[in-house]
Amino acid sequence: MRYRVPFNRLVGVNFMDLGRLAGEVTATTGVELTPRDVERVIASVARSSHFWEILGLARVPYPAAAETIRLLQDQGLVQVDGTGAILLTAEGQAFVKVHALDPGQDFTCPGCGGRGLDLGKLKSGMQEFEELAKGRPEALLKYDQGHLTTASVMARVALMAERGDLAGKRLLVLGDDDLLGLAAALTGLPQEVVVLEVDDRLVHYINDQAAKSGLPVKAHKYAFKDQLPDRWVKYFDTFNADPPETLEALKVCLTRGLCGLAGAGCAGYFGLTRTEASLKKWHLFQAMLLAEFKVAITDIIDNFNHYANWGYLLESIGDDYPFAQVAPKLNWFKSSMYRIEMVSGFEGVENKPMSCELYLDEEALIYHPRNHGGTNG
Ligand SMILES: [Fe+2]
Repeated sequence: MRYRVPFNRLVGVNFMDLGRLAGEVTATTGVELTPRDVERVIASVARSSHFWEILGLARVPYPAAAETIRLLQDQGLVQVDGTGAILLTAEGQAFVKVHALDPGQDFTCPGCGGRGLDLGKLKSGMQEFEELAKGRPEALLKYDQGHLTTASVMARVALMAERGDLAGKRLLVLGDDDLLGLAAALTGLPQEVVVLEVDDRLVHYINDQAAKSGLPVKAHKYAFKDQLPDRWVKYFDTFNADPPETLEALKVCLTRGLCGLAGAGCAGYFGLTRTEASLKKWHLFQAMLLAEFKVAITDIIDNFNHYANWGYLLESIGDDYPFAQVAPKLNWFKSSMYRIEMVSGFEGVENKPMSCELYLDEEALIYHPRNHGGTNG
């Protein structure tokens, strides 16, 4: 279909709106947005009409993506139909054409889902894991929970095993609503698995399941803000975490994990999203990893971790954006898999109590007044 678009309107959109729109989103949400980010949101709407899929494709933090869509609606480039589908208007389609925006194609390897690992060898472990996980506690908002899919848990285990960080090794799992400690132990590879977890329900569940199955896993109650108990300092070969994504929380979590590692050559694994962390935050965090923590980043595997949908999503995001109040039709929340390795010359980080705003900053998915107060730190 061909559309006739008033020339002035197109020129206006072309030369003025992208930068201004990005600036308006930044002013409203406090999330730094570029004109290219706005293009990506528009291109994502061209590819999908489902809000949560658009958010996953756009790779900008939730508050910024939602505010961009709201403004595009105001500008007449996007409309929301009666079913909640987000669609380009005729003008929006013309805009995509004029700017040659590529909605993108999916080149993900169907064999491995883009992870680059063959999980075939873990097939029986996967079934055992599903049995063990059947009665797992439900995800809670107060702990920012939302667990990995079985395939993602097993892929993490496979990655650790493949990189030589699991067999015969001591594994520290910092926070484990994913039940990764149990999944790792099911392979029979690790010497010992210690899970440190703030949620009593999970501590009990993991210990019960480990005891029933005779797995070398022990869970203990622990909060990130507390210093790592002395007996676990420099005790482990590998740590694994899925931290909340404020810079403060990332720093505290990495401090605990690295304090737990024995020394150079030991590795840490964690996920980082684009939905709750802008590339600006990625940059600051990576600088912290290199300068303060003195590690090498050996792997960043895009969209490695897929999370099962969790019950509290729609109530937790607030009601600023009506088009976001739709139940997800897919496992849309994904994170990149980071592997870091300690290098020689690492002198350790200070193991002391640290308080921080653990879960929320202006890029968070969960509604927070700070998301709505303009630019702030
Ligand atoms: Fe593949």
